[in-house]
Amino acid sequence: MEKSALNHLSDQLNTRESDGLLRSLQDLAGMIDFCSNDYLGLSQNSDLTHAIEQAARLRAEKGQALAHGATGSRLISGHSPIFDEFEQACAEMHRAEAALLFASGYDANVGLISAVAQEGQVIFCDKLLHASLIDGLRLCKAEKRIFKHNDLGDLVQLLEQYPKETPKWIVVESIYSMDGDMAPLVELVDLKNTYNTEIIVDEAHSGGLYGPGGSGLCVELGLEKEIFARVITFGKAWGNAGAVVMGSKILKDYLINFARPFIYSTAPSPQHVSSLLATLAFIKSQDTLRQKLQTNIQFFQSHCHGDAWGKSQTAIQTFFVSGNQALRASAKKAQAAGFAVKPIVYPTVAKGQERIRITLNAASQEKDMLTLIQTLNDNA
Ligand SMILES: Cc1ncc(COP(=O)(O)O)c(C=O)c1O
Repeated sequence: MEKSALNHLSDQLNTRESDGLLRSLQDLAGMIDFCSNDYLGLSQNSDLTHAIEQAARLRAEKGQALAHGATGSRLISGHSPIFDEFEQACAEMHRAEAALLFASGYDANVGLISAVAQEGQVIFCDKLLHASLIDGLRLCKAEKRIFKHNDLGDLVQLLEQYPKETPKWIVVESIYSMDGDMAPLVELVDLKNTYNTEIIVDEAHSGGLYGPGGSGLCVELGLEKEIFARVITFGKAWGNAGAVVMGSKILKDYLINFARPFIYSTAPSPQHVSSLLATLAFIKSQDTLRQKLQTNIQFFQSHCHGDAWGKSQTAIQTFFVSGNQALRASAKKAQAAGFAVKPIVYPTVAKGQERIRITLNAASQEKDMLTLIQTLNDNA
């Protein structure tokens, strides 16, 4: 019997379910947050809410009421001065020449990579890149080479296979989203001149948290001038949504002309951009929250002992449970104890690398961290 298109879809869902891989939506309200990316708790910070409302009110009083819809792509009807204002402030904050706003980090990464890495060039990617960078890679025309995670020896071996004249790209994340470890940015910059490569750094998990005023890890390390493009996302430490690509003025103009998610999509609303502007001013002064997060990371790390625990020095912590079924059972028990944690199953991570991904935030309480560690250890 012929199968309808819908039958094909439901077969795939059934397979996922029987493999224990079915995704579904869950309301985590009321649970203790150990899975969001709201590292500084800004999504619900009442002072920031007040600042955002105040900024909108002030504009309205000056007769510049902000629209709640952009009405089109910025290249058609969606552009207005508030975008320039935000992008300029963002570039200054991150010590970049220019910044371009995208609706999300996903859009920024897909738009950036697919546009810049061209035919006749080679793009070298860390094995653990986020799906948004991988989707950009899929769309770009450059030759793709994957190097072992954070393995400079493997990367050099691949770089050596191409003539110096061939333009090359290296793509990394400042902090990797599943393991919480950092890319060796200083060493990568050392390779730049020897091999004629440009470096792209996704700072999704370091933006707002590292560097003066939360300007990111590249700035903290004094590398911002050496990096071709940085992506800072606003859905994590900023507690909002959206992302900027930062780099040269030429890069910005190039992306306005060639980055398809920028060109062919409705821009973020002026109200949204105003909330980002207020958040930018706010996050710069949040050293206390940044320090609190670092204290929580140290506290957590000093209390999780044993091979099942990762050794991350960042807000992203890991508890390894081999096999999807055992992992799901462990996550369920932690959830039943009131903790919002998520299992990261195969194939999102390699077989044997299944883990509970725990994200710490500035408001994480010591007693909750201890109980979570105890609960997971008891279920191991
Ligand atoms: C490393 C990394 N890059 C990009 C993104 C995508 O950012 P956004 O959620 O703003 O689309 C994520 C989100 O999880 C991420 O972890």
